[in-house]
Amino acid sequence: MATKWVTEKDEKGYYWPSDEMKKYANMADVDIFKKASQNPEEFWAEKAKENIHWFEPFSKAYEWNPPHFKWFIGGKTNASYNCLDRHVISGKGDKTAIIWVPEPTEEKAVKISYAELLEKVKKFSNILKKLGVKKGDRVGIYLPMIPEVQIAMLACARIGAIHSVCFSAFSGDSLKTRLIDSNAKVLITSDGYYRRGKPLNLKNNADIAVEGTSVEHVIVVKRAGVEVEMKEGRDHWFHELMEEASNECEAEKMDSEDYLFILYTSGTTGKPKGIVHETGGYLTQADLTCRWLFDLHEEDVFWCTADVGWITGHTYNCYGPLSVGATLLLFEGAPDYPDKDRWWKEIEEHKVTIFYTAPTAIRMFAQWGDSYVKKHDLSSLRLLGTVGEPIDEDAWMWFFETVGGSRCPIIDTWWQTETGAVMISELPGIGPFIPTVAGKPLPGVKAEIVDEGKNPVSGGEGGYLILKSPFSPGMLRTVYNDDEKYVKTYFTEYGPEIYFTGDGARWFDEENIRVTGRIDDVMKVAGHRLSTGEVENAIASHEKVSECAVVPKPHQIKGEVPVAFVVLKGVEPSDELKQELVAHVRKEIGPTAKPEEIYFVNDLPKTRSGKIMRRMLKSLLTNQPLGDATTLQNAETIKHLKEVTGYEG
Ligand code: WT7
Repeated sequence: MATKWVTEKDEKGYYWPSDEMKKYANMADVDIFKKASQNPEEFWAEKAKENIHWFEPFSKAYEWNPPHFKWFIGGKTNASYNCLDRHVISGKGDKTAIIWVPEPTEEKAVKISYAELLEKVKKFSNILKKLGVKKGDRVGIYLPMIPEVQIAMLACARIGAIHSVCFSAFSGDSLKTRLIDSNAKVLITSDGYYRRGKPLNLKNNADIAVEGTSVEHVIVVKRAGVEVEMKEGRDHWFHELMEEASNECEAEKMDSEDYLFILYTSGTTGKPKGIVHETGGYLTQADLTCRWLFDLHEEDVFWCTADVGWITGHTYNCYGPLSVGATLLLFEGAPDYPDKDRWWKEIEEHKVTIFYTAPTAIRMFAQWGDSYVKKHDLSSLRLLGTVGEPIDEDAWMWFFETVGGSRCPIIDTWWQTETGAVMISELPGIGPFIPTVAGKPLPGVKAEIVDEGKNPVSGGEGGYLILKSPFSPGMLRTVYNDDEKYVKTYFTEYGPEIYFTGDGARWFDEENIRVTGRIDDVMKVAGHRLSTGEVENAIASHEKVSECAVVPKPHQIKGEVPVAFVVLKGVEPSDELKQELVAHVRKEIGPTAKPEEIYFVNDLPKTRSGKIMRRMLKSLLTNQPLGDATTLQNAETIKHLKEVTGYEG
């Protein structure tokens, strides 16, 4: 019988860690929250010293000059050294760092040891140097889920270059915006990748993106054997460069506050923001959450299904698990290829112990039915995790019972691209695990729920989720090239001393938080973050569109989907035009952003000052009362909108 890591449900509907789990878990001390909150700065300083290798120690833990802060002042470290060298030096060179599972089932899984990974990273670091990349330069990465992505990230970290990863399913235009904003010198991409058995071309997108930017060199990994054009002098094959590269390359001694990477994410405006994470603090928090929250032990196999193009992939498919010296599984493909049991097959085959995924995937699998899961022995699993959006009770229970066999705790981890690592969750050795509830701020994290006047709310009342100083070490330092935006987005709503998350939340009981979702113009589409403004910009850039409004609509599997209301420039609406607009959005942003429905309308509801009332459109789609229409400059449009959409509102 497989071990039961969780108790039966108690009378309140809570699950708790079993005695076995409490004994096994890296952190099971219930007093840890109190200890850490008495002096968070001291707490983090202790963790940074304990878990991270510093070439030179830091003199002070925290410096605060609202709304800016710094961690581990004067400390010198290197993320690549912490993720690789120190494990090899301590004799763990033969341990598997990455189990790479290619999508085509004819290809065997590849195991890469820490020593092998280190050698590759050293070689690739030398290649970057040879191409002129220096400390502080930006490097774009546009790669699928292949180990070269970690090699590229860690090589940048090793030489002090700042990487900026762009999700491979984003379009060439999206990549271009990011390359321009970060002024990247080099781009690392691949010829293509496999998706549901078909090789897709990625290099073509990269070519579109690079044109007219500061990128001087493009390094291309050969993955899918698709035909690509290599531009003489600019484009280089990864494998050819690797053959000649030397494997000696010392890790650069980076200041704790030196930038480690930029990751672009959607905000409330049309343009993605470059979220900046620095070295020492980010690593400390990525590392600690892997030890305490994902409870990584020597023998674990950790599978985080997130693409490296997102922060979840950065922190839990690269820096966190490698910093603690764990084994991670990297899967190239789609969850339903060649069949809908692919994930469960891989869990069985590689004896995955910790499995971290998104509610949207869980809902999809639940809909496909239990049989795909039941075909496989999942008794290796010890801990399950979710992230990205609120999880509903049905999905939670399905994950718990069907995947976890009612044996494994589920940690519902709340965090953001901006926070760098998990901020709110239960700890597996402490609990409780409550369906739909994320849990407590982690030790050393200060979160609160407040009303509009900054007063803490109590009971089940809803409010805004905020974070307070000392802001945890892994949090963003600024928005790249736009510190004003950093201040405005995060530290203006409640003043320079309070970080505004953009999320609504409520206390589920006195200790545990339920996060209810975004309260701004950010959507979560299948867990992917998108702003309504971005999709609006894409649609509005079409020559036949006069103006448009995009709002999220609830969706059974994806959580939310974008719906567009479009006013045309005097052309006749048609189904072809709808298709054209969908294709246009795919091209501008990527397939995740494509509108689920498009309504051609005469006019959009607007306030007297001309602001589009998106809230009203949202209410219409969910058959909610539309609210006061008398403040509109064009109240007559409501009747028209109801007719066109068929919704009652
Ligand atoms: C937004 C951040 C960093 C993880 C991946 C998403 C939502 C995230 C949860 C959760 C409810 C959640 C929030 C947050 N979110 N985790 N466990 N429960 N909502 O990162 O793309 O930056 O999105 O995702 O709305 O603000 P992201």
